[in-house]
Order: sequence, then C-alpha cells, then structure tokens
Amino acid sequence: MSTPRKQVILGAYLGGVNHHTAWWHPDAGSQIDFGAFEHTARTAERGKFDFFFLAEGLILRERAGKIFDQDIIGRPDTFTVLASLAAVTEHLGLAGTINTTFNEPYELARQFASLDHLSGGRAAWNVVTSFDAFTGQNFRRGGYLDPADRYERAEETLNAVRALWDSWHAEDLAADKASGQFLARPDAGEFSFRGSQFDIAGRFTVPRSPQGRPVVLQAGVSPRGRAFAAANADAIFSPYGSLPEAANFYRDIKSRAVEAGRGADDIKILPSASFVLGDTEAEAIEKYHVLRDEQVTGQTALILLEQIWNRDLSGYDPEGPVPAIDPDPDGPPIIQGRAFVHQDRFATAERLRQVAEAKKLTLREVVADQFERGPLVGTPAQVAEQIDTFVQSDGSDGFILGSHLVPWGLDEFVDRVVPLLQDRGALRTHYTGTTLRDNLGLPNVRFDTKFSADV
Ligand SMILES: Cc1cc2nc3c(=O)[nH]c(=O)nc-3n(C[C@H](O)[C@H](O)[C@H](O)COP(=O)(O)O)c2cc1C
Repeated sequence: MSTPRKQVILGAYLGGVNHHTAWWHPDAGSQIDFGAFEHTARTAERGKFDFFFLAEGLILRERAGKIFDQDIIGRPDTFTVLASLAAVTEHLGLAGTINTTFNEPYELARQFASLDHLSGGRAAWNVVTSFDAFTGQNFRRGGYLDPADRYERAEETLNAVRALWDSWHAEDLAADKASGQFLARPDAGEFSFRGSQFDIAGRFTVPRSPQGRPVVLQAGVSPRGRAFAAANADAIFSPYGSLPEAANFYRDIKSRAVEAGRGADDIKILPSASFVLGDTEAEAIEKYHVLRDEQVTGQTALILLEQIWNRDLSGYDPEGPVPAIDPDPDGPPIIQGRAFVHQDRFATAERLRQVAEAKKLTLREVVADQFERGPLVGTPAQVAEQIDTFVQSDGSDGFILGSHLVPWGLDEFVDRVVPLLQDRGALRTHYTGTTLRDNLGLPNVRFDTKFSADV
C-alpha cells in the first residue's frame, strides 16, 4: 500500500510595515484597518489554509535611540483582531503571538479559552518569551528577566495555563433545565499551581473550550527554545528556508519530541515564506528582483546589518563591500525591539562576507539576498512544485505565507497556486475537521485529564 501524500499545512501571515512589505506600492492598502485583516483571512479560508497568524511586537523599534519608522509600525491588539475574525470566518484557525514574560497565566488562559469558545475550536497561541529588556520598559516591572529565566517563566506559564484550561472537565457544565442543576460538579474550575514563578490558587471562569486545549505554537531557535517546543508545542516556526538547513532543523526537533516522550508527528514544523508569481519563470524572477531592490534600500540594509554587527555602520557605503570589522556583541544595543534570530553573530558576519564575495554582491545586495523569508519565486506550477517538494522531503510540514502586498497579495496565491497543490493531492479541497487541532492532524486532548499542576 502506498503511503498517503503528506498534506501541506498553510498559515497566512499579515505583518506590519517592514522590509518584507511594499507599503508604498500604489495597490497597497492599510495594514491596520479591519478590512485588511478580514480580506486576508477570508482569502486564506477560500484557499483552505489551516490558520491565520499574527506576530506581536510590544514596542516601537529603534535605531540608536530614534524610532525606525519603516519597521512594524502600528500593530493593533491581537485578541481584538482575532475575535473579530472569528465572526467572519468559519473554519480558519486563529493564531496569536502572545508573550509569557509580561502576561499572567490567568489572563492568558481566559483569553485563549474565550477565543476558542467564540471561534468554535480554532484558537492557537504562539508562545514567545520576548528577546530584550527594552520591550519590558513598556510594562509595570520593566525589563526584568534574563533570557535564561524567560524560558523558566514560559514553561511555568504554559503549565499554569494548562492547569487552568484543565480545571473544567467536559461535562462540568450540566445546565439541566429539567432538574435545575447548573454545575455537574461543585469543584468545577478549581485550580492550584505552585512553582518558582507563580503561587496561584482559585477558580477559573471559563468552562472547557471546544479544543480542550487551544493549539500551542512556539517561535524560538536557541537550544532551550527548541527543547521547550519539542516538549510542549504543537508546532514550531522554522527560521530556515534552504532545504539542507531546514531538514537538519526538522530532524532535530522531531527527534527531540520523541526523546520527550511524544510522537514525531505531534509537532509540526513551519517556516515562514514570501512568494512572487509570474506567467513565466523569467517574469517572476524579474518581478522578484525589482521588488527586493525597492524593499531593501541602502538605509534598510545598513540597519539590518547593524542588528548583527551591533555597531554603528552608518558610515559604510551600501553599494560597497560588507564591513571587514567584527561584530561587537557586548556593546550597548544599537537596534532595539527586533527579534534576534542569528545565534552566532561572528559566523553570520563571515557567511555574509563569503556570499558577497562568491556572488559578487554589494553590501545592500547581499542583505537583499540573504534576509528574505524563504522566497518562493516562479510560475504558479513551479511554486506549487517548490512547496510540495520541500514538504515531501521533510524540510517542513508546511509554510506560513506572507505577501508583500497587504491585503490583496494572497489572492493571487489562492487563485493560482492552491488549485495546483490540490491537484497534486498535497492540499485539502474542503475542510474535514471541525477544530484547528483536527485540521492540523494533531492528537485530540482527552477532556477527562487534569493537568498535574504542582511542579
Ligand atoms: C521565526 C521567529 C518568529 C518570531 N516572532 C516573534 C514575534 O512575533 N513576537 C515576539 O515577541 N517574538 C518573536 N520571536 C522571537 C521570540 O520571542 C524570541 O526569540 C524567543 O522566544 C527567544 O527564544 P530563543 O532565544 O530560543 O530564540 C520570533 C522568533 C522566531 C525565530
């Protein structure tokens, strides 16, 4: 019997203004009006995507103490947006990035359980820890946790949230009109959780939600982040767009999940990607180069490099070579508020120098080339092939797609690439599950389990 084709998981991502978007394009709309979110989500649902995804940034980004105004400006609150989208979609998962460093378990559990109820079982939480103390300035306690302690807090937060979700059994809400009995058990919602970060006990206000536990995603690449995801998450973001690196990450995460006592299929691996389509390959490549050159200006290229070098590079010529000096990881941070995804600054700097040399690229060109989110470029048939091959070769279990043109960019993908993926048998033609968990092929949560609360 032949093995069934792996199904491609698709998420739709709507980012703010940054070097991946083309906000200045004559056809670009608002990044913040509800209509933009609504259109993208409805289009994703039309294309049978698994979920709509929102990232989160809790502070405006700065360069050397000044706002960098072309970088993720104006992000509305995640829960407000996702709750509104629940009303205008029927099947699409609704995934929000929410930080564990600045939020309390009770609030988090209540918000995600509420979203799960409102959407009929479509809520997902992308657990992030935040990457810098600078973000903490906007919060009551300030930037108060070292990176190492943030995962401890994340782990406890997630465990506490699960204890809260599990504090109601499936049948606790009897609401029996005949007998007048409302609660089936007097202890419904009772919880206690004790750890190094929290000491909480009380009654949780939200009964079991349709998914039992909303889906958990994770975005983080450090060894601690990987271990956390492998033990806890239903899906992890992959920062790798090239197949060999992506396949290494894939194998690493899946084997860590098995070591943690889970099934390899219980965690899905999802890189983010952008796409550019053309009627011919040459047209797509041409469009891609024009767009990239417009998105990555000289100033943007220097700022993206400063994030790695942590030095003022404003004196460098964007059309000259990559700086020969080394990064300065220990200096005061020059770029603030941007997630740092390069684990080894020296190795990254060296790689950029080598790529620039090998491909004969200027500083700006090498940044444009290397800072892309796994670009899928070609005719619709070529892009469908690229996606399917990547997934069938275990580079990932799917993709989170963002378009440079908000909010209409995804239409082209759904109209032209989705049918080809469906023809290949790699993407559903209709939704079969009722919850996000079902659609992602994740194991169901047993509703009678109480999470073991005390750690
Ligand atoms: C692909 C990717 C996407 C991320 N998206 C966000 C985000 O939207 N909001 C956020 O606060 N952090 C985001 N982060 C950063 C994580 O918050 C932060 O890097 C992580 O939790 C720290 O863990 P690490 O050291 O394991 O990377 C992202 C990280 C990666 C790798």
